[in-house]
Amino acid sequence: MCGIVGYVGKKEALPILINGLRRLEYRGYDSAGIVVHSGDKALVVKSVGRIDHLHEKLKGHKISGSVGIAHTRWATHGGVSHENAHPHMDCSGQLILVHNGIIENYRELKKELSSKHSFKSETDTEVLAHLIESYYDGDLRKAVEKALSKVRGTYGLVAMHTQEPNKLVAARLGSPLAIGVGDNEYYIASDTSPMLAHTQQVIFLDDGEIAEVTDKHLQLYTLEDQRVYKQAEHIDWDEAQAEKQGYDHFMLKEIFDQPTVIQDAYRGRLDLENGTAHLGGFNMNEEQLRQINRIVLIACGTASYAAMVGKYAFERLAGIPTEVDVASEFRYRDTIIDEHTLVFAVSQSGETADTIAAVKEAKRKGGVVRGIVNVVGSTIARETDGGTYIHAGPELAVASTKAYTNMVTVLLLYAIQLGRLKRLTIATGERLVKGILEIPDKMKQVLAQSEQIKALAEKYKGYGDFFFLGRGINYPVALEGSLKLKEITYIHSEAYPGGEMKHGPIALLSGEFPVMAIVTKNQLYEKMLSNVEEVRARNAPVILVATEGDEQVKSLATDIMYVPSTMELLEPLINTIPLQLFAYHMAVILGRDVDRPRNLAKSVTVE
Ligand code: G6P
Repeated sequence: MCGIVGYVGKKEALPILINGLRRLEYRGYDSAGIVVHSGDKALVVKSVGRIDHLHEKLKGHKISGSVGIAHTRWATHGGVSHENAHPHMDCSGQLILVHNGIIENYRELKKELSSKHSFKSETDTEVLAHLIESYYDGDLRKAVEKALSKVRGTYGLVAMHTQEPNKLVAARLGSPLAIGVGDNEYYIASDTSPMLAHTQQVIFLDDGEIAEVTDKHLQLYTLEDQRVYKQAEHIDWDEAQAEKQGYDHFMLKEIFDQPTVIQDAYRGRLDLENGTAHLGGFNMNEEQLRQINRIVLIACGTASYAAMVGKYAFERLAGIPTEVDVASEFRYRDTIIDEHTLVFAVSQSGETADTIAAVKEAKRKGGVVRGIVNVVGSTIARETDGGTYIHAGPELAVASTKAYTNMVTVLLLYAIQLGRLKRLTIATGERLVKGILEIPDKMKQVLAQSEQIKALAEKYKGYGDFFFLGRGINYPVALEGSLKLKEITYIHSEAYPGGEMKHGPIALLSGEFPVMAIVTKNQLYEKMLSNVEEVRARNAPVILVATEGDEQVKSLATDIMYVPSTMELLEPLINTIPLQLFAYHMAVILGRDVDRPRNLAKSVTVE
C-alpha cells in the first residue's frame, strides 16, 4: 500500500507530484505529504486526509523547484496523524524520505539509534531516515545502501538530501518502483500511471536494486554496489485511459469499458477455424502441457473469484483437477506442488504481497508458475516464468470490475487451449470461440439497463443485509456480486452456493433480508429455482438475474434483471455486470466514496 512519486528535471515539480499522487491515491488515502527542493531549502507539507486536503494546504505556500518527492499513505505502523504522514526526516531535516513497505526490525533499530537521534513519529519509516543519517557522509546513495544492509522487511523508497540538490535515490525490495525516462528528467513512482502523461519509456527496478537519479543521469546499482545496466521498456497504456472521460466515477467508467477491453484480452488469441485459443504464455511445448495433471490458481479478492470461474473451465474443458487457493492461505500451508502442477497467479496489480509470496513458494516447490496479470512490468509478471497480460488498461477504482472480466476471459482461453490438447472437441471449441466473440454486444445490452438497475438500487437502499445465491459457474458470480456490494456500500452481504443455504444461512432469512439469486438457464436452472422457492417461503424479497425471455421466473421474483443468454461457461462475463451496476448505484445513492471506499486499498502490498 502507499504510493510514492518523485521528480527530478527542469520543470516545476509541484504539479507533477500532486497529479502523480492523484493517480496513486488508490494505493492508500489516509494522509499525504510532499517535499519540493529549491535552492538550499526543502519545503515539506503534510496533511491528514485525501490528496485534495493536501492540495488545499499547499495553496498557502509559495513552492517552486524542480526536484521533489511525495507520498500517499495507507497506515500500517502508527495511526493516521500529521506526524506519521510521509515524508519523514532525519534530525537535521536535510535527509527526507518516502517509503512504501514495512521495516520489520524497526524496533531494534530504533533502540540502537535512540541515544543519538530524536524521533517525532511512530513510523518504521522515520527509523530508516535516521539510520541513513547515521551513515551519511556526503554520498546519499552509499548511505542508503549501508542503511538498507541493516534492514529486514520490504521497501520501495525515495530519498533526497539538501546537500546534494538535484538528486534522488530510489531503492526497492518487495514494493514496486518504476522510473520514467524523459528528456533530461526522470519520474519515479510506485506504478507507471503518474508518468504516463510525460513519458512511456520506463525502467522497472528489481528487488535489491538502487537508483541514483539526477536531471542529467540515471545510474542503477545493486545493494552490493555493482552497476546494473537496463533498457527502458515502452509502456502501451496512455494517459487518456486513466481519465474518467465524462463518467462520474472511475468505477462506472471501468464497468462501461468492459465491452471494449474484453476484446483486448482475446484479440489475436482466438482461432475459430481450429476451435481453440493461442496463448504464448504457457512457455511449454505440447508434450509438456499434456503432462500437466493438476492446476492451482492463487489469487486474492476479486481475482480469486475470477480464478474460481477458471476452475470450472479447466475441469470441464481440459479434465484437469483444479484448485483455487487464496494466496494468504496458500503461502502458509503445506501445499503439494510438483513439476506436473501448473500454478497460475492471478492479479490485477501484480503487486499483491500475499500473491507474490505464494508465487515464490510455488516456485521453490518446483511448480510451473505462470502469471495472469494486468499491470505490465509488475512484480508477479516478472517473478513468473511466463503468463499472459490481461490488457484491461489502467484500473483505478479500488473495486475491480474490468480486470475481473479480462481475468475470466484469459482463464477461459487457457482452458480452451489446454482442453483442445486433451479432450475438448473442435465443435465445442468453435462454439466457445464464437460465444466469446459475441460477448461484447451482449455486455452492451446489460449496460443499457443501467438506469433500471439504478431504480432497483433506490428501491432496496433501506436494507442492511443482502444474500447472493448462485450455483456452479454462477457461484463465483454470487461471491463477486456480494463482495462488490459490501466493499463499496458497507452493506452487510453474504454469498452462498444455492444448495448450501439450507445448512445454516437460511436461518437468517426474513422479509428484511433480500436475496439476489442468479437463475440463468443452464444445467442447474431447475435446482436454482428450487432454492429460490425456499427463499420465498421465508418471505425474503427476491431479486433475480435471469435469462431474457424467461417468463417462468416472474412468479418467483420480486424484481428481475434480465441478461442475454450465452454458453454456460461464459455466463460470468455477462451475469456479473448487473451485480456490478447494482453495487455501484447503491453506493452512489448511499453517498459512499465509490472509487475509494473506507479502509481499503487497491493494491495490498503488505501482508
Ligand atoms: C485488494 C483490492 C481488490 C483486489 C485484491 C487483489 O483487496 O481492493 O479489488 O481484488 O486486492 O488484488 P490484485 O491486484 O492482486 O488483483
